[in-house]
Amino acid sequence: MTGTLEGRVALVTGGRGGTGRAVSQRFADEGAHVYAADLSDGGTVGEDPAAGEFLRFDVTSEDEVIAGIAAIESTRGRLDIVVNAAGVEMETTIEETTLEDWNRIFAINVTGTFLTCKHALPLLRQSAHASIVNFGSYDGFIADPKLAAYCATKGAVHALTRAMA
Ligand SMILES: NC(=O)c1ccc[n+]([C@@H]2O[C@H](COP(=O)([O-])OP(=O)(O)OC[C@H]3O[C@@H](n4cnc5c(N)ncnc54)[C@H](O)[C@@H]3O)[C@@H](O)[C@H]2O)c1
Repeated sequence: MTGTLEGRVALVTGGRGGTGRAVSQRFADEGAHVYAADLSDGGTVGEDPAAGEFLRFDVTSEDEVIAGIAAIESTRGRLDIVVNAAGVEMETTIEETTLEDWNRIFAINVTGTFLTCKHALPLLRQSAHASIVNFGSYDGFIADPKLAAYCATKGAVHALTRAMA
């Protein structure tokens, strides 16, 4: 490993998932201190406890997002990288999708990305190396009738990401 992230602090939502866990581990291997944020806390990222920790951080709750970022600020004093990898997929056509399903997938994939970016930005703006990585999807570009709501959320993430950039 190159140590290119030495001294940096990263927040990775969905940090217990397949992608979030791999990103968290790689960032830790590169020297960052990683907050792997998911629906439960407890445990360390990798074998070295100094490399990072899991943080309870439900991206659909503005209170939890604000509290999680405040905890990072009070313990580390900085935040350099945010990766929004929390997400869910729903294999339903529009006719099979209930309003409850629709609201839930938008709350996690879109509102969660919005809230995490919005509340991380004040700290990120203080970093000379700030980065945000949002997880869109091929399905945000290519329509799949069996993933109607999922496609819509990923299109929204792409548009939000372009608007922020
Ligand atoms: N796996 C793929 O092939 C693929 C392809 C394109 C895009 N993506 C996107 O990449 C991202 C990660 O996918 P993955 O395959 O790692 O998924 P995954 O299901 O393995 O992990 C998702 C994680 O998000 C967490 N999560 C769910 N709701 C949450 C919430 N409210 N607050 C915080 N965390 C929450 C889950 O607990 C889980 O750990 C998703 O946005 C997904 O849409 C994945």
